[in-house]
Amino acid sequence: MSTARRLLLASVACVFAVLAGCNKAEPPPAEPPKQQPQPQAQAQQPTTAPTVVASREMAPGMDVMRGAPITETTKPPPITNPDNSDIKRVRNYSMQPPVIPHKVEGYQIDKNANRCMFCHARTRTQESQAPMISVTHFQDRSGNHLAELSPRRYFCMQCHVPQADLQPLVANRFVDVDAMLNPQAAASAAASTPERK
Ligand code: HEC
Ligand code: HEC
Repeated sequence: MSTARRLLLASVACVFAVLAGCNKAEPPPAEPPKQQPQPQAQAQQPTTAPTVVASREMAPGMDVMRGAPITETTKPPPITNPDNSDIKRVRNYSMQPPVIPHKVEGYQIDKNANRCMFCHARTRTQESQAPMISVTHFQDRSGNHLAELSPRRYFCMQCHVPQADLQPLVANRFVDVDAMLNPQAAASAAASTPERK
């Protein structure tokens, strides 16, 4: 399944979830109890399983991400300000949707208006000095080039996300392909690049 389709499915699921939430008169159907993953299956691939899964096994009844028992309500961390530095970040691989280096709070994206296209549309970029949506955003799923933004790229934040200085819930062991191919060059490049939060 392509990433685009998976994201579409996820957003459709979200819409249903919201609709289900609105209908107060009819409580959502109780979820069937989920089958716990077999410990054996996890033991077979200890190197690929994320660390969180391992520690979850060690502490039954604990929500490792919140660091509290699953029955306990914890105080959520304070909301942090998203990055508004206007500085583009390096992409981690060539097909990565670039992350958003500016605030997007309150931007309207619905059937009437797309605030992002106010600046990122082909016809707006001279005025806004924003990077134009790239050619892939004009392609339909068969690769045909459309005159307008493709409907499957309409909801920008399916793929592009703002950044905030937060503690990741799950450890990330991503390794840049350059670092994998040439560790020495990558190390010196990293040393000369100022670190970003
Ligand atoms: C007021 C104009 C404006 C609006 C509205 C706007 N942007 Fe931007 N955007 C910019 C500009 C200008 C940049 C270039 C970097 C900067 O100045 O922040 C940018 C940069 C970006 C980048 C980084 C591109 C790269 O190559 O790294 C992404 C992604 C992006 N915007 C997505 C969005 C999304 C998604 C929305 C809607 C939720 C949006 N923008 C709304 C002006 C805008
Ligand atoms: C299905 C995922 C997806 C959606 C939805 C999407 N984008 Fe992108 N976008 C990408 C990917 C992947 C790239 C990088 C590769 C490319 O250019 O296609 C990208 C690149 C960009 C860039 C950088 C272009 C450049 O040449 O540097 C901008 C700006 C951008 N998108 C804005 C938007 C805006 C605005 C929207 C909503 C109208 C949007 N995108 C919707 C996936 C998406």
